[in-house]
Amino acid sequence: MPVIDTKTSAVIGHPISQSLSPVIHNHWFENSDVDGFYCAIDVDPADLGMFLENAKQSGLKGFNVTIPHKTNIIPFLDRLAPIARQMGAVNTVKIMEDGSTVGFNTDGIGLITHLKKSVPDWPKDKPALVIGAGGAARAAVLGLLNENIPMVMLTNRTREKAETIRDELGRGRITVVEWDDRSAAASAAGLVVNTTSLGMIGQPTLDISLESAASDTVVYDIVFKPLETNLLKTARERRLRTVDGLGMLVYQAAASFKIWFEKEVSYDDALHSKLMEKLS
Ligand code: ATR
Repeated sequence: MPVIDTKTSAVIGHPISQSLSPVIHNHWFENSDVDGFYCAIDVDPADLGMFLENAKQSGLKGFNVTIPHKTNIIPFLDRLAPIARQMGAVNTVKIMEDGSTVGFNTDGIGLITHLKKSVPDWPKDKPALVIGAGGAARAAVLGLLNENIPMVMLTNRTREKAETIRDELGRGRITVVEWDDRSAAASAAGLVVNTTSLGMIGQPTLDISLESAASDTVVYDIVFKPLETNLLKTARERRLRTVDGLGMLVYQAAASFKIWFEKEVSYDDALHSKLMEKLS
């Protein structure tokens, strides 16, 4: 009788019911030779340690980590990959054969992979403007610095948080820009990335002018509800190239899948249709 090697992985968060990750990973299980299943598990912050023990016992190959556990999971893990250490946050855990656990962070690679696939000739010789200073901003900044971009201009409503990122991750290549000067900074940027929640359904829009932006500027919004935010609509009307937030989600998931199963997977039309259906 053939041995059926079913790989199980999951996402943990609290709440978790809105997660699109099961759609993405189960699509890849259905369309690759990796036979497995991915589920969403609601884990209360007080139960993180117990969850991890159960995960090891149950043979889970690994799991994704989302809000509010990305930082809190760290003390429970045996090792951290350098990128997760730099980020101070984990979105992917691999459970090794010996039961030890390693934390990774694939958010930055997800963001950069989608950027490169969407706009292969994005202007990487110019400074980038990153808006926001939360976890997503850290991912964007690290991803961009690893691409050898000359300078990242970072702006945030609460300036001190941007300064902390500059001091921790900057390597001399991050300049903090006043929140009120964000439109002027956009005119000097080759890439503008919104990492704040502004523009999301139910949130205020991001107030920034792209009037003086150069014609080759790329505008990237990590918000994907709606898929076309006001920022991206304004950019499109100005004939600037745009990148939406859904691909970042898919490509960070692809990087997790590779960590667990050593398998390359892709963002195909069928997956895009499934995600659009979920979002509508
Ligand atoms: P994440 O980890 O997903 O990036 P976060 O840490 O909550 O989320 O960060 C949210 C970002 O959106 C922050 O940069 C936040 O700015 P502050 O640091 O000043 O709070 C930004 N943000 C949220 N609402 C905002 C608003 N109304 N105006 C400006 N920035 C806002």
